[in-house]
Amino acid sequence: MRALKILFVTPEVEPFVKVGGLADMVGALPKELAALGHDVRIVCPAYGSVKRVGEWRARPDALGVDVGRTAQWARTWETVLPGSAVPVYFLENQDFFGAAEVYDSPWGAREDNDMRFAFLSRGALALCQQLGWVPDVMHCHDWTTGLLPVMLNTILRDTPLGRAATVFTIHNLEHQGYSPARVVNFARLPWGDFHRDQLVVGGEVNLMKTGLFHATKLTTVSPTYANEIRTRGGGFGLDPVLRFRAGDLVGIVNGIDDTAWDPARDPALPANYSAADLAGKAVCKAALQEHFALEVNPRVPLFGVVSRLATQKGLDLLADALPHIMDRMKVQIVLLGSGDHGLEGSFKWATHAYRGRFGAHLGFDGKLARRIQAGGDFFLMPSRAEPCGLTQMYAMRYGTLPIVRATGGLVDTVENFAQGQGRGTGFVFQDPTAAAIFNTVGWACATYYDRPAEIAGLQQRAMAQDFSWRRSAAEYVQTYGWAIERRTGRKPG
Ligand code: ADP
Ligand code: GLC
Repeated sequence: MRALKILFVTPEVEPFVKVGGLADMVGALPKELAALGHDVRIVCPAYGSVKRVGEWRARPDALGVDVGRTAQWARTWETVLPGSAVPVYFLENQDFFGAAEVYDSPWGAREDNDMRFAFLSRGALALCQQLGWVPDVMHCHDWTTGLLPVMLNTILRDTPLGRAATVFTIHNLEHQGYSPARVVNFARLPWGDFHRDQLVVGGEVNLMKTGLFHATKLTTVSPTYANEIRTRGGGFGLDPVLRFRAGDLVGIVNGIDDTAWDPARDPALPANYSAADLAGKAVCKAALQEHFALEVNPRVPLFGVVSRLATQKGLDLLADALPHIMDRMKVQIVLLGSGDHGLEGSFKWATHAYRGRFGAHLGFDGKLARRIQAGGDFFLMPSRAEPCGLTQMYAMRYGTLPIVRATGGLVDTVENFAQGQGRGTGFVFQDPTAAAIFNTVGWACATYYDRPAEIAGLQQRAMAQDFSWRRSAAEYVQTYGWAIERRTGRKPG
């Protein structure tokens, strides 16, 4: 296929701004696409908290963004994704993005999110016009970019940009971006052109739904999740739309940036190691035990958690199982996470109740996340739902065995341990219950104590998995091709 022009429009991109795995994906896939010869660029808001990594240049002209009643302006900063030539444009505007927050204030979702992200979508399109650069495809990510396909299909349909196809990736269907009806006027969209159905759920505009209706092609981040979200139980109310568009929905499992996540080179670790020589992993374990003031003992199995503390992640179930695990098993657990205040409280309490055996750091810390991935023997991820999940893949790459619930991308990336059969890369359980977590931790623990050769085999198989972006990047290119053909009526040469 010829080289494509691809624009990523995104609310997060690693290493500049990150809330979760969406940032990792948007920080990695474009590099792989660029390596395949495509012209990829990224647009993201310049939040007050954005990290100005590398060199940033302000573009000379202010960018006019056609939203609201009076003209709005952005200042555009240009830099590159570190380690590549992929341009990243940050849109700065004090009213919409001056605050540090990405989505939420301490009281929940920001009330002006509809306007902030309408500004992002319209700003990305205005930037293309200013650059005189017409992408073949615009790749949108989650509800924050849900209005972009609508804008292309309505107000910009008859301009050169209107030829651009859109691919909309669902990273997490749980967050849909409900907004007051005012956003339609704010975004200067013609109400009359829509069936109310395309925009509205329960009286409010649903930004995820607008994207799902209007994008040329839809993807989500694993094949299993692509199936789950078409069902009533897994569709978070949007399953009818996803069944309606089933023919346009593809599940593509995320890769990981295997140069940025490499235990042999990771500078955040106290010692480096590889599958051939795991000596450094023992150093990482001892350092982690020390960090959390646990007993420094190589023979006790150490379980790690790195997660947003949200219902989706099932960590309330872990909190319920914790007293039973601590009571009955000789294990250590360390947790890094932030989010739900009730859960933060439970885990804080546990650090006192199980002093020396349980440690928690409540916050966001990229370096500690890597040290937990490296220093643990096991990695716990009892998610109720998991569109893809990256941390289980990081764990496997670092020789730490994931213990996961069979949902979404966890099904597609972790193979269950089959004792005596030389198979498996982790431990998988079915039910989202504290009892299932307890039993599976027990199973892992018994294997650790009684069958170390099985653990070594699991570790070698986990570390040998290829989770690089190479394969998935090719699937995205294929999907872009389908989208372009659908939009323009011609295959992209
Ligand atoms: P999600 O996007 O649903 O949060 P993923 O597994 O796809 O789940 O990605 C989570 C990303 O965020 C990983 O890179 C993980 O290391 C990181 N992360 C999550 N919580 C923290 C935290 N408290 N501190 C540092 N990194 C975190
Ligand atoms: C979302 C999902 C997570 C996925 C990530 C990147 O945040 O919760 O499962 O890995 O997006 O696609």
